[in-house]
Amino acid sequence: MNDISLEAYTVLLVSNEYPKLDEHRFMLQQMGLRVAPMFPGAAVVGFCGEGRIDALIIEGRNFESIALCRSIKSDPNSEVPIVMLLHEKYKHLEAEAYDVGVDNVMYLPVDSVVLGTRVRRLTQQHQASRHLEDATGVLGAVARTVEKHDPYTSGHIERLRTLSGHVAHRLGLSNLDLIAVRAAGLLHDIGKIAVPVEILRKTTELTPGDWAYIKQHPSHGADIVSTLRHGDLISPMVRSHHERWDGNGYPDHLKAEHIPLGGRIIGVVDAFDAMTTDRPYRLALDAREARNRLSVGAGTQFDPSIVEALLSLSPRVLAPKSN
Ligand SMILES: [Fe+2]
Repeated sequence: MNDISLEAYTVLLVSNEYPKLDEHRFMLQQMGLRVAPMFPGAAVVGFCGEGRIDALIIEGRNFESIALCRSIKSDPNSEVPIVMLLHEKYKHLEAEAYDVGVDNVMYLPVDSVVLGTRVRRLTQQHQASRHLEDATGVLGAVARTVEKHDPYTSGHIERLRTLSGHVAHRLGLSNLDLIAVRAAGLLHDIGKIAVPVEILRKTTELTPGDWAYIKQHPSHGADIVSTLRHGDLISPMVRSHHERWDGNGYPDHLKAEHIPLGGRIIGVVDAFDAMTTDRPYRLALDAREARNRLSVGAGTQFDPSIVEALLSLSPRVLAPKSN
């Protein structure tokens, strides 16, 4: 089975006894999904990593199937949604499956229509993720150009995309939400395109008039990204990335959970990156001091649960990156 061409397929159906699942394969095809059967093995990980698969359906029989899912999901940037089909006698694998990131567990015998509907929903989310990534590719180039106006923030938006993704992953966000947070991390300051360059490059204290310009960048950015396909997913995050947990942020003075989750994540990561990189008025803080300051700001400036999630990441992930 493994030599079958996958060019035309978008769903991988993985089982040791795939003929038993043939009914599901037929049903999924009837629903318009393209399905490729495959035995478990390293080749499955390879196909998922190539980005040609929209969803994986795997029959869970043992810890090897769990290990296979773990390999696919271990990359925080992995997007492929996984549905695991379990026999009742393997019920003990369910918790392990969710623990390694399987998106949905269903028990055999499963209703083919329910399976098809669930897979189609996950596939649509996956496709939306791809569209979002493609669209941010274009605006990302604009965002990088805007960033060049301020030499002290070189590499900042790429670091924000990566670190925001790690925090979203740690918080257990869905694939689509994780992709949206990463996109918002990249594009959060794109509204600075509407701020005069001389203000962005200023190394002296900003005047109230300068601040009036600066404070408009979240709403300008939200308007820009809302023009993207699926931009409605990231626009609220961009608009709210300077809100504060205590309500003293801008532009809408939102408070606590009223601030979109993505905006809260980017707010914490933005502050952490600013602390750990050199700025015109000071050198980068060391990691311990930056962690202390985040902890001090938890509950006033920052969402405490997000500070906790960020600080729980490995030192390797949090290490300052050279620009
Ligand atoms: Fe900003």
